[in-house]
Amino acid sequence: MLHWCCSRFGIAFLLTMFGFVNVAEAARERRQDVEEIRAQPLIRGAVVFKSYCVMCHGEAGDGVARATKLYGQMNLVIMERSSEFYEKIIRVGGLGVGLSKFMPAWKDELTDEQIKDVAVYLSAVGSPEKRGEAVFKTNCILCHGIKGNGKGRAAVLYDPPPADLTRSDKNDDYKRLIITMGGKAMGRSEVMPVWGKQLTVQEIDDVVVYLRTIVMDL
Ligand code: HEC
Ligand code: HEC
Repeated sequence: MLHWCCSRFGIAFLLTMFGFVNVAEAARERRQDVEEIRAQPLIRGAVVFKSYCVMCHGEAGDGVARATKLYGQMNLVIMERSSEFYEKIIRVGGLGVGLSKFMPAWKDELTDEQIKDVAVYLSAVGSPEKRGEAVFKTNCILCHGIKGNGKGRAAVLYDPPPADLTRSDKNDDYKRLIITMGGKAMGRSEVMPVWGKQLTVQEIDDVVVYLRTIVMDL
């Protein structure tokens, strides 16, 4: 009696499986790709901005923030400026450029790289799409993939797999809900995490705007 895998059927089956595995292997994102994305100045700068600047300048850089009241009439809006100006005021603080002393100098607290990164982010902070891109690339790509096509590094671990967000047929309200409450609350896979505690309402709105830009016409 032949073992099953030596039968003609078995050989065909095994060849198909190997072919399949090879295709999957080629399509899978590499750790290196993910690290490259996370090292983009925009993405790193967003993290710096969130830790050091958001409390005064607001998540959208519009000066609507927790600390706004403390600075009364002061203008906390991040205006469109050159990157040289951004880097300078971040290094030396408001006083150093003839502005308010309430804008701290960061040169002792942030590295040169962090200052350059956050300056890049300042040029994008007024755009919901760019802010959302930073949220997505920081939190979602391991499962949904760098392109949002559901082919992230961790995707093979899950069944059902992470949704292909470039082909989503769901509207913005649905996306906002499943991101905030997680898959389980929506009767979907509990592998889709609950983000409502880790991300702000603004960040969730922003990532939904970004997702709109990656949906392909069906
Ligand atoms: C404690 C509150 C506070 C924090 C924290 C803070 N800033 Fe400011 N920032 C200010 C104030 C106040 C001004 C307004 C200065 C003025 O107009 O006189 C300002 C002004 C600015 C400006 C100039 C805006 C313009 O175009 O006129 C930039 C750029 C800026 N801050 C970037 C940052 C960055 C980047 C961080 C985080 C690394 C940061 N700020 C953190 C209070 C703060
Ligand atoms: C640990 C893996 C994982 C991470 C991280 C993750 N997701 Fe998901 N997500 C899933 C899975 C799995 C599904 C599919 C659930 C199902 O089909 O039951 C899903 C589904 C979704 C859906 C529903 C799409 C549709 O068309 O139905 C959206 C929207 C979504 N995720 C957005 C996000 C966003 C935004 C982030 C980052 C803030 C994120 N996900 C992070 C695993 C993940």
